[in-house]
Amino acid sequence: MAKVCVSEVFPVYNFTFELPTRVHFGQGSLEKLAELKESGSKVLLVYGGGSIKRAGIYGDALKILHGAGLEVFELSGVEPNPRIGSVRKGAKLCKENAIDTVLAIGGGSVIDCAKVTAAGAKYDGDAWDLVIDPMKIADALPIYVVLTVAATGSEMDPYAVISDLSKNEKWGTGSPLLTPKMSILDPSYTFSVSKKQTAAGTADIMSHTFENYFTPVEGFLQARFCEAVLKTCIHYGPVALNDPENYEARANLMWASSWAINGTLSAGSGVNWCVHPMEHELSAFYDITHGQGLAILTPHWMMHVLSEETAGKFAEYGVNVWGLDPKADAWTNALAAIECTRRFFKEELKLPMTLHEVGITEQDKFEIMAEKAAAGSEGCYVPLTKEDIVKIFKAAF
Ligand code: NZQ
Ligand code: ZN
Repeated sequence: MAKVCVSEVFPVYNFTFELPTRVHFGQGSLEKLAELKESGSKVLLVYGGGSIKRAGIYGDALKILHGAGLEVFELSGVEPNPRIGSVRKGAKLCKENAIDTVLAIGGGSVIDCAKVTAAGAKYDGDAWDLVIDPMKIADALPIYVVLTVAATGSEMDPYAVISDLSKNEKWGTGSPLLTPKMSILDPSYTFSVSKKQTAAGTADIMSHTFENYFTPVEGFLQARFCEAVLKTCIHYGPVALNDPENYEARANLMWASSWAINGTLSAGSGVNWCVHPMEHELSAFYDITHGQGLAILTPHWMMHVLSEETAGKFAEYGVNVWGLDPKADAWTNALAAIECTRRFFKEELKLPMTLHEVGITEQDKFEIMAEKAAAGSEGCYVPLTKEDIVKIFKAAF
């Protein structure tokens, strides 16, 4: 049957698309920070463990904020895989000081913490409620971002991922209210990002794209967008790794980060994600780096879901992204595409490729992690049961 865009027949083809984030891109964009005063006069500055101080961004930002007449409060020390405790602290600061704007300067962890802090500031109960039930996010302070790592796309999306490691819980939440009002993207701010985080960030951007590319709902334009983002990562990831101050590479990765998850690639596809729910369990139990976990799992997930039905899609990926021979049969190209992906992560990005390498040396949590991941990935490209996921974890071990 021909695919037609009629809502009764293919409801997932209909979508509402809005990009509310004002982006200032390029070197020197920090001067736009003064625009924050459009949202009030008291700002909570949220940042991590000190990288923004070492890079000089903190001092420059404070100068601009003070110059614009803004009163600045601080929430520092936000952890990678941000904890609910930091969010609670931030929400309390906002309430006690009648703060009216939240500014995140950092990577995805800092931005996510700032987002739920902004919602927590407007919520009477415990902020964890907002993590496990996005419907409870009814209001939020306006969120501003200065991005310092190309990875999660949190700078231009409505999502936030927060952990409570005391319960081995890591969940994503989301609301249009969490989408940043403005994001400053200066690629030179990512010159100082370590090789490890550069590689992990590139794998994360690619994974967001895979999650949108491998869908049973074929959107021709969407698929070509995905291939462009993947090729950008494959081309520029290794350049940034070997030449950290290469502006062109950092700029392309930064823009790819935002576009992989801002809704452009997923509009109309309507599928749930497959690999992210599995990785979130690894982070929840072992506090590993998100992008590394994705790189480890992705080739094994690809092999696990490869079948007569999916081979064509993997072959399309191989031909359009890796330049494989379009005349070869689909199964051959699908296998070659998966091997290209694995080798790229291992040899070009120098990422760990086993769970052992990131310190996961026991299998006793696989069952419980798989059960949670199976629930989280319901409705994904190829449905995954708990047993499927245990097999993927074991293959990656
Ligand atoms: O804490 P600081 O000192 O800032 O150091 C950070 C941190 O140690 C460092 N860093 C950041 N900018 C730097 C820098 N080091 C040197 N120079 C700079 N310019 O990098 C380390 C990692 O930072 P983090 O923010 O944790 O990295 P990333 O951006 O990869 O964020 C990962 C988190 O985002 C979540 C992940 O699960 C994880 O918790 N995700 C969020 C998503 C979203 N909001 O849409 C989607 C993603 O799929 C993902 O789940
Ligand atoms: Zn991700």
